[in-house]
Amino acid sequence: MTSVAGMRNAERRTRTTEGTKPFDVQRVRADFPILRRQVHGHPLVYLDNAATTQKPQVVLDALTRYYTDINSNVHRGVHNLSELATEAYDGARTKVRRFFNAASDREIVFTRNATEGINLVAFAFIRPTLQPGDEVVISAMEHHSNIVPWQLVCEERGARLRVLPMDDRGELLIDQLDALLTDRTRIVAMSHMSNALGTVNPIDEIVRIAHARGIPVLADGSQAAYHMPVDVQALGVDFYVATGHKLYGPTGIGVLYGREKLLEEMPPFLGGGDMISSVTFEKSTWNALPFKFEAGTPHIEGAIGLGTAIDYITGIGFDAIGAHERDLLEYGTTILESVPTVRLVGTAPRKASILSFVMENVHPHDIGTIVDREGIAIRTGHHCAQPVMDRFCIPATARASLAIYNTRAEIDALGAALRKVHEVFG
Ligand code: ALA
Repeated sequence: MTSVAGMRNAERRTRTTEGTKPFDVQRVRADFPILRRQVHGHPLVYLDNAATTQKPQVVLDALTRYYTDINSNVHRGVHNLSELATEAYDGARTKVRRFFNAASDREIVFTRNATEGINLVAFAFIRPTLQPGDEVVISAMEHHSNIVPWQLVCEERGARLRVLPMDDRGELLIDQLDALLTDRTRIVAMSHMSNALGTVNPIDEIVRIAHARGIPVLADGSQAAYHMPVDVQALGVDFYVATGHKLYGPTGIGVLYGREKLLEEMPPFLGGGDMISSVTFEKSTWNALPFKFEAGTPHIEGAIGLGTAIDYITGIGFDAIGAHERDLLEYGTTILESVPTVRLVGTAPRKASILSFVMENVHPHDIGTIVDREGIAIRTGHHCAQPVMDRFCIPATARASLAIYNTRAEIDALGAALRKVHEVFG
């Protein structure tokens, strides 16, 4: 008989090694119907994956199937459809648990997005006991969603936000982390991968430093989770957040992983149906994990779609995804650096799938508008990371961000479009 540890190891092997078929980018592209469309008379070149990824047909089919076959509320009905919907919803949680290698389904809370997961931890884990003079430590490369929730609770309680700096390449100064931690530090909350720079942070090392002082760690995996295998137990994190729409799944569904012991100790974040065990006008008691944190009718089809997206990613495998995206990043770096006046922002040795850049005498919005006329979608602006822009003394960048379906030919198209930008403004 296979032991539980043996089964978990087998699960991990499935998650982290090659998928079931050899990687063929054209076959992957065929899975994504939107990639067949034209924009301004050109084939769509979608390079805004850090904002949201496109969805494979299997995910679209799963959403349709949910509404055509089993649409019903979960955890509430004895009728057949409700049982089927509940099975599919809770089954999606198990897929998420395996994907992140959490110890138990009780540690996986469905949220609206990563932002809600961080707010949940800020308001239900930190705020109830936050004292004046306490500190929350984040990094200089955080997305606003890993800054503002902490600011809200710190401002209310007279606590202080402290920031681990980064160098000119966009690498965190990890050797300064220990000195930043004090006996007033309540949590360390850091991005696993920067959406503005592409830097991949050493979360395991951050955890080691913080845990040596008994300080819990939250990692924001919004960007990392679709580029690399994430094993919350190996990383040692106490909380990990991710969002479905970047994992090739639907919008409006996110994931909070939390260590069971910590989630057990936390009060609910939102009150309502399904999160209770009993309600009287005098007092209510709470449902078991993870339902204590899932008030109201959840995003049922979102969770099911996310589970299907996870099956899809797992079928390809992170070995293949990583190799393909590393090749594109390297190729893209060379192509962009060959365009006159382009300067990359974010050149850390450990980075993934993001090419943030500026061009002399051209505002990033103009870059974005001109390449859009060629059918190329990139994001321009501060990428919800204004302090990152301030750190590099720029108002904004243009950002091409890569995913499994992108090709070298698409990067060539971006390079050619940027040469046009240079001709117009040069
Ligand atoms: N956070 C997303 C981005 O980086 C929306 O574009």
